[in-house]
Amino acid sequence: MELSGQVAIVTGGASGIGAATATLLHDAGATVIVTDIDLAKDPPGRFVTHDVASEASWQALLADVLKTAGRLDILINNAGISGGPGTLESTTVETWQKVNAINSEGVFLGCKYAIEGMKQTGPDKSASKGSIVNVSSVAALIGSAGPVAYTASKGAVRLLTKSVAMHCAEQKYAIRCNSVHPGGVDTAIFNILWQTMGHEQGKAYVGGAHPIGRMAESEELGELLLWLASERSSFVTGAEFVADGGITTGLSRRRVIGAP
Ligand SMILES: NC(=O)c1ccc[n+]([C@@H]2O[C@H](COP(=O)([O-])OP(=O)(O)OC[C@H]3O[C@@H](n4cnc5c(N)ncnc54)[C@H](O)[C@@H]3O)[C@@H](O)[C@H]2O)c1
Repeated sequence: MELSGQVAIVTGGASGIGAATATLLHDAGATVIVTDIDLAKDPPGRFVTHDVASEASWQALLADVLKTAGRLDILINNAGISGGPGTLESTTVETWQKVNAINSEGVFLGCKYAIEGMKQTGPDKSASKGSIVNVSSVAALIGSAGPVAYTASKGAVRLLTKSVAMHCAEQKYAIRCNSVHPGGVDTAIFNILWQTMGHEQGKAYVGGAHPIGRMAESEELGELLLWLASERSSFVTGAEFVADGGITTGLSRRRVIGAP
């Protein structure tokens, strides 16, 4: 059990990529605390209700984890919302603030409180090392007219990750921080599209925009997150990992000329 003795928090772990990652971390032996604003039906570990956009909620979570699990080694900053497809002109200030509060400020708060917890009881006090993994998006790597708030929030996470990694390295904390950039993953974040087009048709539509010809399943992202959380990636920090079925690699023939 590679991660036995280690304690991990997975935010937004009630569904999708977070739920798959929590299961993989649990199966690797970690004590997993699944957090979400919505109740997880069957969490692989303990479930704590938590709003990533609230500093008080992070303070309460950290106190709870240190009290009940005694340490913190891994944080998967995964919770996020899409905020809809708005462009610069159609996006309201309220939507901009909500999306950035959850997707960007939530990750800032997560990094801040994870480092505080890891410094107190975890990596710096033992042989184990800490790992923070921030779930960004391909939206942080390529421009688009929209969703503008989501794109900006994920771009912020990409460079925040590098600041956190540099800070931890300079302070000689045994804590790494990396970002992950998924392409389309079949999760509830696409629920509005599934409701409009139907799940299978919507999945084929989004999948068709990927050179690889399909969307990812959450477990495929979970494997990458597990690797980054574990000591197998011990020399990796401040780096960005793209798992996007080729979207950022170049123009797809499938997209340009409709090749099968
Ligand atoms: N699915 C994709 O195609 C895709 C692509 C790129 C990036 N991502 C990112 O992956 C992450 C996970 O998304 P997913 O696709 O698994 O979607 P999902 O909707 O299945 O999961 C997101 C979870 O975050 C939770 N959440 C929302 N607001 C929260 C808050 N304020 N506090 C705590 N939890 C909150 C939701 O309740 C939900 O359980 C997100 O950050 C998302 O932006 C997803």
